[in-house]
Amino acid sequence: MSLALNTLLYQIQNGSFHFGGGRVIFLNAMFHSDLSVLSDSDLTVQQHFKPYENALVQAGFTVQPDIPCDDGTYDMVCLLVPKNMVEARYFMARGLRLLRHGGALICAADNKAGGTRLKKMMHNFGVQDLCDDARNKARAVWGVVNDAREDEIEKALSVGAVQDILDGEYTSQAGVFGWDKVDKGSALLTQHIPQGLKGKGADFGCGYGYLSKFLLSHCPKIKQMHCIDADYRAVELCRKNLAYFNQEQQCVWRDLTQYDGGLKNLDFVVMNPPFHEGKKADLLIGQNFIETAYQSLRRGGRLWMVANNHLSYEHVLNRTFLACDKVYEGQGFKILSAQKLK
Ligand SMILES: C[S@@+](CC[C@H](N)C(=O)[O-])C[C@H]1O[C@@H](n2cnc3c(N)ncnc32)[C@H](O)[C@@H]1O
Repeated sequence: MSLALNTLLYQIQNGSFHFGGGRVIFLNAMFHSDLSVLSDSDLTVQQHFKPYENALVQAGFTVQPDIPCDDGTYDMVCLLVPKNMVEARYFMARGLRLLRHGGALICAADNKAGGTRLKKMMHNFGVQDLCDDARNKARAVWGVVNDAREDEIEKALSVGAVQDILDGEYTSQAGVFGWDKVDKGSALLTQHIPQGLKGKGADFGCGYGYLSKFLLSHCPKIKQMHCIDADYRAVELCRKNLAYFNQEQQCVWRDLTQYDGGLKNLDFVVMNPPFHEGKKADLLIGQNFIETAYQSLRRGGRLWMVANNHLSYEHVLNRTFLACDKVYEGQGFKILSAQKLK
């Protein structure tokens, strides 16, 4: 449950923020039973992270993964502001573009994830009549948008846009995991994966496509790659970054903590699994990834993964795959591999 979402909805419920209905968009929305306070509006809901989108869809909302481009048509924008500053300013600028003249912007963030800087950010964008409220270790700030600062909006849109990184080697965007660099663990994994990998494989939690691009460049016998991530933006970036390879690629937006039967008989899976959702370290996500990998592999197929040294995945690998090889340990990481025997 997001503390910031509680705080945002509280302002609407108790009337501190005057909710006038009309055309409303909720950017980076998450499910909350009190979202019904927005039901008297023509509501659009946006969420790019599959588990959060799933929860909204299950509650009956129609959700779009992309921010729409119908600028200047909304009466109100609600925004759960992401922690990454570049991403946060990008979302805010996109939200401001969506608003009609005189429309209202209401933003919220946990205090530890940027809540305390919200008012200043909104002021810098030219949002007027700012009010705020701090509760639940989060802050909500709202105001009216008459003459937003176009120069600031342009800057935020350009810095946060999809762009080339690492000398044009990849296309990426702020907000996606490790968006402007190569992850150390993933780089290490590429040094230990055999170049003889072949057949049908998958990159679980593909991000902008670093591991997949490496495999398609170095393992000529790979026929098909499934690149899967819960972040819609990552999936689209991965698709772009792999566009010029001839091998068949399927870039899919999915929650890999649940096995849905879609992937079967794979020859290999590679992964650098996430171990955080939001701020909490959560070993369960990686454990679920391992179980999904097991179900997706053919008998004899193999999983290759990298993990931070302190994360203990060995017992899940031993339980599901019945054996696990530690291929490398060092530099704060370990490379683990396991073969599906039965
Ligand atoms: C440690 S990053 C690795 C990214 C990429 N493979 C790389 O090497 O740069 C883990 C990735 O898993 C994705 N992820 C997080 N939770 C997920 C879930 N439930 N299902 C699928 N992907 C998820 C994240 O969006 C992130 O891109």
